[in-house]
Amino acid sequence: MPEAPWWKSAVVYQIYPRSFCDASGDGIGDLEGIRRHLDHLVWLGVDAIWISPFFRSPMKDYGYDVSDYCDVDPLFGTLADFDRLLAESHSRGLRVLIDWVPNHTSDQHPWFVEARASRSSAKRNWYVWRDGTPERPPNNWRAAFSDTPAWTFDAATGQWYLHCFLPEQPDLDWDEPAVEAAMHDTLRFWLDRGVDGFRMDVIHLIGKDPRLPDVPAERAKLPYCVLNEHEKTHERLRRIRKLVDSWPGDRVSVGEVAVPWTDMVARHYGRGDELHLAFNFPPLFAPFDASSWRDQIERTARELDPIGAWPTWVLSNHDQKRHRTRYGGSESRARAAAVLLLGLRGTPFLYAGEELGLEDATIPPERVLDPGGRDGCRAPIPWEPAPGHGWAGAAPWLPWPPDAGSRNVESERRDEASILHLYRRLLAARRRSPALGRGELRFRPTPDGVVGWERTAPGDRRIVLVNFGASEARIDLDAPATVEVSSTGRSEGAAFDGELGPEQGVWLRVER
Ligand code: NOJ
Repeated sequence: MPEAPWWKSAVVYQIYPRSFCDASGDGIGDLEGIRRHLDHLVWLGVDAIWISPFFRSPMKDYGYDVSDYCDVDPLFGTLADFDRLLAESHSRGLRVLIDWVPNHTSDQHPWFVEARASRSSAKRNWYVWRDGTPERPPNNWRAAFSDTPAWTFDAATGQWYLHCFLPEQPDLDWDEPAVEAAMHDTLRFWLDRGVDGFRMDVIHLIGKDPRLPDVPAERAKLPYCVLNEHEKTHERLRRIRKLVDSWPGDRVSVGEVAVPWTDMVARHYGRGDELHLAFNFPPLFAPFDASSWRDQIERTARELDPIGAWPTWVLSNHDQKRHRTRYGGSESRARAAAVLLLGLRGTPFLYAGEELGLEDATIPPERVLDPGGRDGCRAPIPWEPAPGHGWAGAAPWLPWPPDAGSRNVESERRDEASILHLYRRLLAARRRSPALGRGELRFRPTPDGVVGWERTAPGDRRIVLVNFGASEARIDLDAPATVEVSSTGRSEGAAFDGELGPEQGVWLRVER
């Protein structure tokens, strides 16, 4: 049997570089700030980090508007800083994924500057241009973030260009072979530098119907980015997969298929020849509720298992309210959610700060920055209790999250009852258990309000129980079991007595 690739049993930790830690003193996090905290991440027990974009960028979408794919923005450091971060991560056994943004560039990217210069520019068809009158865009597609057309009229050349996101993020035209070749080169550049893989931004958008047809009226209010699906994306993914697989060492592609349908996500795995992994966001939008979660887990298995696709699980990221905030701010729910997330079958993605139980920051109107309203979840990570919270110099670019004086890395590391220690125990237990890492998942009968499943691998059996309800639940097991990790921290190491407290989650080790 060939050994399973590392990313199947890994836990990936997402770092939003602006918000992680500032070492330079300008109030914006940087690569050196990440490097200084690698030992902490090893202590926590994650296997890999994914760093959101740190490439040269005018920062209209905080780095998702790239003006040079092969350089580091001076705000974040230099290529030498990246190489050092990568080497020091690898020497600690941490893998590093970077964020590849293939659907669009910045309007300041030299490619777009050249394309825009004239209709006869050699790079004109690297982007999507269409005729139309200044009053009437070429079709009814809507941009994300604003309820406006996904088109901007370029008065100088008298044509519209397509942008599924901001006007400063023109969509590349992947129908132009030179675009595909140039974007493959950017993958090669980072693979050669030694990255372990890529998170691929809105990857489902790289193949579009060349006729650019209107979307049907009943869907016309949705941003076009959630609707696009075309066979050409799949062909292009197969070529990307071949390229990534041709480097030694199990490099991985994690595609962001940012749509609310798991069946559509599943199609982007192809027949094991497209994405290695794809984000599945519907569970992220599920409320803290047993039947919704059971449904999400079942649906994910139903769509992915038959095609041999390995799931991913995400509760929080840089685009959505943190799950603790979404679940009403309760720490007990955030703890139970960690037991849930890390007990599922698939690769979990943590978003920096969830292990501290952070809530979104409150952003006063005069400090709002992001056009998509996502500042709250991007608040800086507090490392220390004292004001400044371990960030060098200037006040950070966004306000601190609530209670940073007590809810910070140093204070929580000192307190063994903290949620940070809970994450650490979960990660350690997951690493020890083949069943939790890569085993099968089978639901168990549970009372209302509770979801429970078994994870099994040869010689190893774990039970995960999560009580979403506000009252105690009684669970009868067929075999004696020991509480391995509990979201409340109580009874760990003791025999499970069948009682599950309100909003409590546990991992049980079955002795057999
Ligand atoms: C998805 C990214 O996660 C988000 O932050 C970004 O704004 C869009 N893609 C556009 O790149």
